[in-house]
Amino acid sequence: MSTAERDTIAEPVVEAPAESTTTNRKQPFPQGFLDTISTGWAERDETLPSPRTQAPFAAERRAAVSAAFPGKRLVIPAGSLKQRSNDTDYVFRAHSAFAHLTGWASDSEPDSVLVFDPTADGHDVTLYFRERADRTTTEFYADATVGEFWIGPRPSLAGVAADLAIATDHLHRFAPADGELVLEEDDDLTRFVSELRLVKDDFEIAEMRRAVDITAQGFDDVIRSLPDAVAHARGERVVEGVFHRRAREDGNGEGYDTIAASGPHACYLHWTRNDGSVVPGDLILVDAGVEADSYYTADITRTLPVSGTFTEVQRRVYETVREAADAAFAAARVGVRFREVHEAAMRVIAARVAEWGLLPVTAEQALDADAGGQHRRYMVHGTSHHLGIDVHDCAQARREMYYDGILAPGMVFTIEPGLYFQIDDLTVPAEYRGIGVRIEDDILMTEDGPVNLSAGIPRTADEVEAWIARVQG
Ligand code: GLY
Ligand code: MN
Ligand code: MN
Repeated sequence: MSTAERDTIAEPVVEAPAESTTTNRKQPFPQGFLDTISTGWAERDETLPSPRTQAPFAAERRAAVSAAFPGKRLVIPAGSLKQRSNDTDYVFRAHSAFAHLTGWASDSEPDSVLVFDPTADGHDVTLYFRERADRTTTEFYADATVGEFWIGPRPSLAGVAADLAIATDHLHRFAPADGELVLEEDDDLTRFVSELRLVKDDFEIAEMRRAVDITAQGFDDVIRSLPDAVAHARGERVVEGVFHRRAREDGNGEGYDTIAASGPHACYLHWTRNDGSVVPGDLILVDAGVEADSYYTADITRTLPVSGTFTEVQRRVYETVREAADAAFAAARVGVRFREVHEAAMRVIAARVAEWGLLPVTAEQALDADAGGQHRRYMVHGTSHHLGIDVHDCAQARREMYYDGILAPGMVFTIEPGLYFQIDDLTVPAEYRGIGVRIEDDILMTEDGPVNLSAGIPRTADEVEAWIARVQG
């Protein structure tokens, strides 16, 4: 439903016909209720907050957008609640560009719209949203979706204006205009705001560090829970649930669905069913990231030996993946192309699987861009993606700005090589089958080289074994 459509919906029906199937649970409000519900409430605390830390950063981002689209009216909708089923919705998640340009994330209001109205020398920017309703309205007491009586306090125009340091107005006063550019409808605008996130500012970098730090604690929790996971028929769900608890308690939630993939499941790159058992002697691949309240997310993978120690073949695969990750890290320098990071990792992967006799060609032939690729059977995904408000950030950036783009200070991206030998892959010796390993770290590019934001989470095989012993000890 578009913002405009939603906003013209009539007041909620509080006394529906008895035969209605959508209101068959609702009791009519008796007159005594209607006569008294709007009175007897304490005055609201109208103290205005100081601008949040992110406010000046968001203002700079808006200034960049304004400068790029002179004379154009720009509309950046937050998006609406999405129905899960019947009258239950998914948790609201504002559009990433909206959050980036307003600084309003987990506490934002569905259906809000950020509007840039052109002026002689730039734009007037206004944030329109559905302000809380007066307590005399039916919305207050009868609207289970937005009424404060049902969902708790909602913000005022003045409160949000002070908090975000932005002009605000009521959603009712927002009207579409001819010729305006709307995010997701206009390719240039959509691309511009995506590319604007390629280089992170200081606020964003601090939030990424926060997300990584909470994620590190979530991984400690996971290790602590491994005995419980082994004891449970659906041990992968135990791992998912333990991480979820940390993500919700200390952050906004997960930035993406957790992958808790034990044994052969680790070879399925998008294993999010997480309904398998966790078996001693196997590895468990955990790909999980906490999203902070600001929406910035970590994206970390660790592959853990369930029993605390790697077997010889598991360690061989694991340390090869680490070698690939280290090669990618070494290749990451300001001024090189993003894809060179991936290529460095793939050279290691190709060389090792060739050495192990897994390829029908040499490593060099496999690395041929046109005729090769045989090694990619064992690592089909890319080594890196930009990371930020979205786990796969800057998704609408042009290829020449992304995969073929040049690394610059302030970029944050993953390094996440892996090796995956599926349980039924007859091209590998039996000892490799069912082993899947990925090591994923979050990297900040600086003038002085790459900084591994997740360096505090143990990486090498020896460190991982010591980590498990320490946390479980
Ligand atoms: N967790 C998604 C990814 O690693 O890209
Ligand atoms: Mn990733
Ligand atoms: Mn990941």
